[in-house]
Amino acid sequence: KKILVPRTRKEIFETLIKGLQRLEYRGYDSAGVAIDGNNNEDKERFIKLVKKRGKVKALEEELYKQDDLDSKADFETHFGIAHTRWATHGVPSAINSHPQRSDKRNEFVVIHNGIITNYKDLRKFLESKGYEFESETDTETIPKLIKYMYDNRESEDTSFSALVERVIQQLEGAFALVFKSIHYPGEAVATRRGSPLLIGVRSKYKLSTEQIPVLYRTCKLINQITLFLTIKINVKNICNSRMKRLDSSTCLHAVGDKAVEFFFASDASAIIEHTNRVIFLEDDDIAAVTDGKLSIHRLERSASDDPSRAIQTLQMELQQIMKGNFSAFMQKEIFEQPESVVNTMRGRVNFESSTVLLGGLKDHLKEIRRCRRLIIIGCGTSYHAAVATRQVLEELTELPVMVELASDFLDRNTPVFRDDVCFFISQSGETADTLMALRYCKERRALTVGITNTVGSSISRETDCGVHINAGPEIGVASTKAYTSQFVSLVMFGLMMSEDRISLQKRRQEIISGLKSLPEMIKEVLSLDEKIHDLALELYKQRSLLVMGRGYNYATCLEGALKIKEITYMHSEGILAGELKHGPLALIDKQMPVIMVIMKDPCFTKCQNALQQVTARQGRPIILCSKEDTESSKFAYKTIELPHTVDCLQGVLSVIPLQLLSFHLAVLRGYDVDFPRNLAKSVTVE
Ligand code: G6P
Repeated sequence: KKILVPRTRKEIFETLIKGLQRLEYRGYDSAGVAIDGNNNEDKERFIKLVKKRGKVKALEEELYKQDDLDSKADFETHFGIAHTRWATHGVPSAINSHPQRSDKRNEFVVIHNGIITNYKDLRKFLESKGYEFESETDTETIPKLIKYMYDNRESEDTSFSALVERVIQQLEGAFALVFKSIHYPGEAVATRRGSPLLIGVRSKYKLSTEQIPVLYRTCKLINQITLFLTIKINVKNICNSRMKRLDSSTCLHAVGDKAVEFFFASDASAIIEHTNRVIFLEDDDIAAVTDGKLSIHRLERSASDDPSRAIQTLQMELQQIMKGNFSAFMQKEIFEQPESVVNTMRGRVNFESSTVLLGGLKDHLKEIRRCRRLIIIGCGTSYHAAVATRQVLEELTELPVMVELASDFLDRNTPVFRDDVCFFISQSGETADTLMALRYCKERRALTVGITNTVGSSISRETDCGVHINAGPEIGVASTKAYTSQFVSLVMFGLMMSEDRISLQKRRQEIISGLKSLPEMIKEVLSLDEKIHDLALELYKQRSLLVMGRGYNYATCLEGALKIKEITYMHSEGILAGELKHGPLALIDKQMPVIMVIMKDPCFTKCQNALQQVTARQGRPIILCSKEDTESSKFAYKTIELPHTVDCLQGVLSVIPLQLLSFHLAVLRGYDVDFPRNLAKSVTVE
């Protein structure tokens, strides 16, 4: 029978390296891997550790240099761990990269995402016990701490997961961890708090149960009895004529160890080519694979605990995370926007009846309509999506709308009340600041709404309700299609809220027709690519680029400037044209490149004023304007003409030339578009 579990070291290396490459977009200054060593002459167990500064490619080359991967080394159960790092503590280097280890014998090794805030105290304690540290990382305290726990264990048969439990009780901060140890061969233990972690399950058999029971280590006898009952039921459920042995402690064991393979990963894209069946771990879950069997347990059981973890099937496909014919993920994602916005609206906007239904919000609509105000919170591009739609939301909901950067919102200890509705916008659903703001609002009993692009992410799970934007996986660090889909999602929310307002029907109608023609119009904007490339040729040697506008298009300026700084490393500023005279005008001269966004909307005349101010100071504006606008182009050094849509949706179109421009500028300046220096796709640390 075909054995699913890779048995050769080569297969394991390849699985790990491929997985890391798929994750490289999240962090990429160094990488490392730990795997069982070949049995040496003394038959002593050891863990082989290979780490390298730079991209995963460099690690791969190093591995092949160091190891005879084709050697026959059969292990009954076999696994490796690997990590790609984005430095928080300590410079990028092989020593600082993960896995981090307990000692020179590599007795315990660990990979870590997140940040340990009390690492200084832990390090001091461990140093006082004689442990010598080799790196500058916060992570290194973890393998040393587990070795300390191991050396001081009360009983010989303390399990690996019991040790991990003790370790995490000492940790403060955020983490997703996977441990490996020579003392527990073939065993893996993984846990999380605040940072995402999932388990991919690849099985030869179709499991008919979708639940993995959670074991509570300290639970009383009565609970254990209940638990056993659950297990039996599960086992019975999945009983299938092809399965012989059913002596399991968890349901997955029932299919036999050789037929199930587990993958621990921080992001589904690392494992999607092996399986689309995943379990998302909750904070403080400890998952252990021992002899090929998975168990999930927790320390204590609280009233709100769900006693099982579901196996979910992801819709993501491998092809979606491949570049195809494009030279960069970012470019691919920019060009996907005609489809991604359709996917955002699919099944939600009924163009015939002019109604909008967001399934994830419908049960809370009454409550939302009664609220005191809407607070929309996010970071980076996601925050800009909130700025972009604030005005139309104020208009359609007739509620005060506050738009907040998550970090500043928390810094201010912003007052939040029970009758507030708080939106958390996040592509990844994992951004630490946004997640903390969510918990802050939950504590104050506000209704929380998640707008994310990642099913199963922390924000989508912890909010009371939400909208999945369905833009498909976004890999490029600079966010593009997620922005336009967040934008459309927020507009849809406004439309749903205003369904009963008679006075708003005409306006709703206009916006809904705007949404209908949006995909075609996006295509039209994308056809300007060559023209924008030519513009980039003129601009790429500049040091600075200003982007100015107001009203509905102010967010376009902020977002355009963010794209430019993120990937071209040019200085760029998004300027509110209304503030021009209060400072930015001093920057204008013949040399300074200025992009002005001037659309046929209620701010048109005011934008014309700004244009006059700029040209009067010999500025040479590049104008993003509407096709029908003959007035602005008279004063332009260059124009980029866009199709005209309803004012509140124009921002979806006007941002695209700036996405394309930043892409071309970065390529011309010789930078790696998908891997901008110092930035990561999802910032899971404060
Ligand atoms: C990082 C990314 C940005 C993103 C921001 C918020 O800074 O580099 O592209 O806009 O985080 O991320 P989120 O996943 O919460 O939307």
